[in-house]
Amino acid sequence: MSENKKLIFSGIQPTGTFTLGNYLGAVKNWGPLQDEYDCVYSIVDLHAITVRQDPVKLRQNSMQAYALLQACGLDPKKSILFFQSHNKCHAELSWVLSCTTQFGELTRMTQFKDKSAKHADNINAGLFTYPVLMAADILAYNADLVPIGIDQKQHLELARNIAQRFNQRYGEFFTLPEPYIPKAGAKIMSLQEPTKKMSKSDENPNACILILDDKDTIIRKFKRAVTDSEAEVRYAEGKDGINNLMTIYSAVTGKTMDEIEAEFFGKGYGDFKLAVGEAVADHLEPVRSEFSRLINDKAYLKECYVDGAQRAERITQRILTKVYRKVGFVDAK
Ligand code: TRP
Repeated sequence: MSENKKLIFSGIQPTGTFTLGNYLGAVKNWGPLQDEYDCVYSIVDLHAITVRQDPVKLRQNSMQAYALLQACGLDPKKSILFFQSHNKCHAELSWVLSCTTQFGELTRMTQFKDKSAKHADNINAGLFTYPVLMAADILAYNADLVPIGIDQKQHLELARNIAQRFNQRYGEFFTLPEPYIPKAGAKIMSLQEPTKKMSKSDENPNACILILDDKDTIIRKFKRAVTDSEAEVRYAEGKDGINNLMTIYSAVTGKTMDEIEAEFFGKGYGDFKLAVGEAVADHLEPVRSEFSRLINDKAYLKECYVDGAQRAERITQRILTKVYRKVGFVDAK
């Protein structure tokens, strides 16, 4: 890690895979950021257990998520890629920060309200303090920038408030993290209800493309995509389904909307859907094959994540030691 580059921190839930929407909207842009910034990416397994997890699946999904980061272009030499539970500083700092966070602030978090409504039988304390751990993730590195989706904005805002309050009480110390909004991320909608965002948790499996779907599956899902009763490949208001397919096609081929309209002039939706399916499958093929190479090389992955956790801990331990001193703990060494 260098002195003059800004530091990006991001946490990724170990759900095993990304959707085409996550990929085109965000993940695809992470690789190129590595030259401009110091990047730290953590698979947030501590956060994952705030909802019930099957241990076998959690381990599997965590490994998959880790391999996928690399398959999507993150380089374990350039960036720090590790599992959150492997660096104990996250949980330790989280405790200290929880003592500068108010109960009332946490009750106002909309994700807590949503998740406790959804998991009414398991409203555990971890679900409640989730945003404090997230603040610790970020502040433990004094991160400058945090790439997040809109759903995490409130949590980042809270992290800034916690940092500010700590600074007021103990003297300037934490950097106030800024959200990093990627320049040109395409917004991808459901293939079945194109006014809704594409989501992995959609009940209809045809609504969502997963980046590890095989070619046949991808093409089949695109063939079933909802369109409209016209038969014209044209970007226009009210043609949500076609607009979405054109956005996807444009994102994977680099073609403009005009070029796409010209290419499919006089052709039916069937031809267009097939072309989109093939283009997406071809675009994702290198990710899929790199992923399957990596996931079968557990020894290599282990080397990477052990090294990642060590490098992460080196940064955060220095910060945590200073925090402990600031709050008045006796030096351990
Ligand atoms: N809460 C984030 C999400 O659900 C994941 C996350 C955990 C995170 N810690 C983070 C994101 C720190 C950015 C920075 O997507």
